[in-house]
Amino acid sequence: MTTRKEFNDIVHGLRDYLELHRTGTAGHWMKHERRKKEQKVVPSGSPERSVPVRKAEKTPMTLEAIREELGECRRCALGKSRIKLVYGVGNPKACVMLIGEGPGYQEDRQGEPFVGPAGKLLDKILESIGLSRQKVDPDWKWVYITNIVKCHPMTDPTNPDARGNDRPPLPEESDTCLPFLLRQIKAIGPTFIVTLGASAAKTLLPTTQGIMGIRGKWVDWTREDVGPIRLIPTYHPAALLRNPNWKKDVWEDMKKLRDELHKLHPSS
Ligand code: URA
Repeated sequence: MTTRKEFNDIVHGLRDYLELHRTGTAGHWMKHERRKKEQKVVPSGSPERSVPVRKAEKTPMTLEAIREELGECRRCALGKSRIKLVYGVGNPKACVMLIGEGPGYQEDRQGEPFVGPAGKLLDKILESIGLSRQKVDPDWKWVYITNIVKCHPMTDPTNPDARGNDRPPLPEESDTCLPFLLRQIKAIGPTFIVTLGASAAKTLLPTTQGIMGIRGKWVDWTREDVGPIRLIPTYHPAALLRNPNWKKDVWEDMKKLRDELHKLHPSS
């Protein structure tokens, strides 16, 4: 017998699915903000930690199909001022996925995430635990990198050539891009997600805490029918360039990731 709650869940799930496919945009997520808040962020190891039940899997889209659906995206204002849409780079079946905030000046020109000074530091951080955005052997060391928003958020969008013209995405910009990020996550199916900086963590996690309070704590993350996936927030590499004394914290976080990876892959 289907209980009333199960019946309601099925109806909600169907409605969400139809809406996501109809709009592919923010409206879908606005409706879920309330339900998202009900999901608690509980550190790994806590007796309270709850692993959400995975809903029935729908066939994930491929990364190529999601990119095609984004097209020359103008769903939010960022699409009007960006030069290149920055989709993502790396292993389409990565074990580790890293999610930053949004493209900056260099990324806007090259069409690849994290290719500026913060990106160079990110590459070194990855290398320190044996990971890379370049194809490497074994495959689980080859990561995927993307951002919450796919277009460069600028303080002054009328002047895209200005330097230091970056800003964090607005909630409506993140909300508009989020369904595409969720599809990317679903397509890749990572075992681990690392969020880089406050913006990425706060977009994905229902928390009111600042980045200092949540970094380095594993979370069993789930959103709609994506997950549960083990997620660890850490500082943004650009923040490390400004505050080098935070590097030791990121190193601690990376060691936690490395330890989990080695549990899964003890021989390599
Ligand atoms: N900062 C980000 O968050 N993402 C990038 O791709 C580059 C800089």
